[in-house]
Amino acid sequence: MRIALIIVSVSTETRGFPTMFVCSCNAYRDTQIADAARKGARTACEAYEALGNGPNCGGCLDTATEIVEQVHAARTASHAAFSNAAD
Ligand code: FES
Repeated sequence: MRIALIIVSVSTETRGFPTMFVCSCNAYRDTQIADAARKGARTACEAYEALGNGPNCGGCLDTATEIVEQVHAARTASHAAFSNAAD
C-alpha cells in the first residue's frame, strides 16, 4: 500500500485565505489591493495608483472594486460595532 503525502504551502497573509492574482496586467494580488484600500484608496483605480500603476485593460476592475468595497464595508461594520459597544 502506497500513501502519498502532499503538503501544500499557501500564503494566508492578513485575511486567512490564500491570496490570488487579481490583475494580470500589473501582477497585483488581492491582498495588495485590500492593503491599499485600508490605507485610504476609495476605488479600485485609486488602489492601483497607490500600488504604482493604473489599470491597463480593465478586465480586473470588477473584482478589484469588490475587494475595495469589502474592506470599507468591514471597516464601517467594525466602527459601528465599536460605537455600539461604547454606548
Ligand atoms: S488585468 Fe488588471 S488592468 Fe488588465
